[in-house]
Amino acid sequence: MMLLVILSFLSIFSFTNTHAHHCSNDFLSEAKNRSLINITFCKRYTESNGVEVAIHLHENTRKIDIMVGAKLKEEEETGWLAWGLNPGEEARMIGTQALIGIKTKNKGLLKDTYNITGYTKLGCQLLPSPIDLNISNFKFIHITELEYHVILATIILPNQYDLSRLNQVWQVGINIGAVETKELKMHGKGLMNYDSSETINLRTGKGRGNRIHKSSKIRKVHGILNIIGWGVVLPIGVIIARNFREFPLPWLGWKKCHISCQTIGYLVGTTGWAVGIWLGKASKYYSFPKHGTYGLLIFAFATIQMLFFKLKPGESDKYRMYRNMFHHVVGYSLMIGICINILKGIHIIHLDYTSWKPTYLGIVSCLAFIFLVFEIVSWFKFLCDKFGLWILCAKCIPNKESNEKKGSKKDGKAQSQVQPSETPIRADN
Ligand SMILES: *[C@@H]1O[C@H](CO)[C@@H](O)[C@H](O)[C@H]1NC(C)=O
Ligand SMILES: *[C@@H]1O[C@H](CO)[C@@H](O)[C@H](O)[C@H]1NC(C)=O
Ligand SMILES: *[C@@H]1O[C@H](CO)[C@@H](O)[C@H](O)[C@H]1NC(C)=O
Ligand SMILES: *[C@@H]1O[C@H](CO)[C@@H](O)[C@H](O)[C@H]1NC(C)=O
Repeated sequence: MMLLVILSFLSIFSFTNTHAHHCSNDFLSEAKNRSLINITFCKRYTESNGVEVAIHLHENTRKIDIMVGAKLKEEEETGWLAWGLNPGEEARMIGTQALIGIKTKNKGLLKDTYNITGYTKLGCQLLPSPIDLNISNFKFIHITELEYHVILATIILPNQYDLSRLNQVWQVGINIGAVETKELKMHGKGLMNYDSSETINLRTGKGRGNRIHKSSKIRKVHGILNIIGWGVVLPIGVIIARNFREFPLPWLGWKKCHISCQTIGYLVGTTGWAVGIWLGKASKYYSFPKHGTYGLLIFAFATIQMLFFKLKPGESDKYRMYRNMFHHVVGYSLMIGICINILKGIHIIHLDYTSWKPTYLGIVSCLAFIFLVFEIVSWFKFLCDKFGLWILCAKCIPNKESNEKKGSKKDGKAQSQVQPSETPIRADN
């Protein structure tokens, strides 16, 4: 099973595309039909809302014809598409001179220019304003055949914009709760929203040394390591400890197996966590504090759990009972925390429209199913043994005597030998 899981993740990894592609044929032919006949380049940003950008550069006049398109969510009645240029040092939101088209419920399609400032990032109202670009033929239309909303414009680039190092920024959002004005509501907060900028060479369309391209792969490594380490190997170790220590399937090798699983899970998971820390440091303009906090807590408590392997038996029964209770409570809480944080991570990476979320949910259901089956078997066995509820399990009747013997053996064990390292909590229930 492990192998299958790893293989499926490797396949996701190897087939995932890089950040930008050639744009779709339909978009390209539309662009060519709309005054961009001699297109300079056409790109599609699959991992960033699937936005497509086509640009025709008229080198001698510093004029560009642009066509920017995206599929605004059909099910939403409102939405917006933005594209702009940033004259600053980096391709980022603050400082962008943006052209924005808004789809409204009753007023059709609106469009305007917006000067994006630091206040916008702080959450202040974003309203139309003049921008320092010379814009003509600005249109915002819906192309029915493509199901795309498209911004079209001709722009004359001022001299402060470097044609070989142009910072372009784009974004897609929903205008939830907005009145029918040109006020914009904040976009989503996934990576597909934060990755929506690129420094390009206008003459070739090539992206220039963008961190995104590198990060995109490293993020997947981060995800895969964490899912395998924390999300798969660790829970398997828990299932082993719970069910093979004594009940319902006593197995001498359980402890070795538990320790190996938790050690491997811990090492792989910690590596993934470290990669995550690096990613957090590398992303200058955005962060995911909740995801990070969960990650830190998971690492911290998993470290505490690992220290339990160092503990030696021999303390008093009572002390050991509390210790084990702590180990178990923290262990199960960790499982839940891990599950939540992996889903958070998948949500941030915004790959839930790909196979990541279904694959992970499949793994979780699989593990939960195994866990449940063992629980049911355990409880049946437990009830039969302890209370002689024969109605529940007819098979127990012929074994009545031996069951009684077992019962007395169990009582004796609580006081002494048999398994010195761990006091079974269930025997105390
Ligand atoms: C190109 O545009 C013209 C009108 O501007 C339209 O009649 C024609 O069907 C379009 N061709 C394509 C391939 O979209
Ligand atoms: C496209 O390029 C051709 C040849 O370079 C030129 O003759 C033509 O005028 C150009 N069309 C536009 C719309 O720029
Ligand atoms: C855009 O906003 C910035 C910051 O407030 C300001 O310095 C700049 O002059 C504005 N640009 C235009 C064209 O109004
Ligand atoms: C914009 O460009 C056009 C064409 O070059 C020019 O006539 C016009 O004066 C420019 N407008 C501004 C505000 O620079």
